[in-house]
Amino acid sequence: KIQRTLAMIKPDGIDKWPQIEKMILDEGFTIVDRRRLRLTRQEAEEFYAEHQEKSFFPDLVTYMTSGEVMAFILAREDAVSQWRRLLGPTKVSTARRQDPASIRAVFGDPAFDTRNVAHGSDSLVSAAREVKFFFPDLTLEPVLTGE
Ligand code: CMP
Repeated sequence: KIQRTLAMIKPDGIDKWPQIEKMILDEGFTIVDRRRLRLTRQEAEEFYAEHQEKSFFPDLVTYMTSGEVMAFILAREDAVSQWRRLLGPTKVSTARRQDPASIRAVFGDPAFDTRNVAHGSDSLVSAAREVKFFFPDLTLEPVLTGE
């Protein structure tokens, strides 16, 4: 089924956005909308609220506010899982071993766990929340399922 998901290029990936955007389009995604912005501390804390209790949370918030990010709404068949497949595993070192053609493997630095180039929603529920977070004023039609 056609889905929408939220993709975000993080500060360590922002200079590579044209190459990453090309990989997105080459994989058959449609870019519904995109925005380049710098997150405030409060916004980063809200976006990653589910990781509040994790030991890496302060590092994650500092890193995510260290530069600009680019958020995309992507659409295609199975967009949520297909975008996470193209991203590769969360850890760059794992991505390099398991999926060397993935975005994190190609553009990431395996020395840092927090800096993994880009983000993808992990479910349709997260996708809806994260799209709303970055594009609060956008009204989207329900995705046509063909059913
Ligand atoms: P992301 O998929 O955006 O979701 C949570 C983020 O937290 C993750 O990518 C990484 O940037 C970061 N992260 C996850 N696990 C760790 C970890 N063990 N150490 C440091 N950062 C992490």
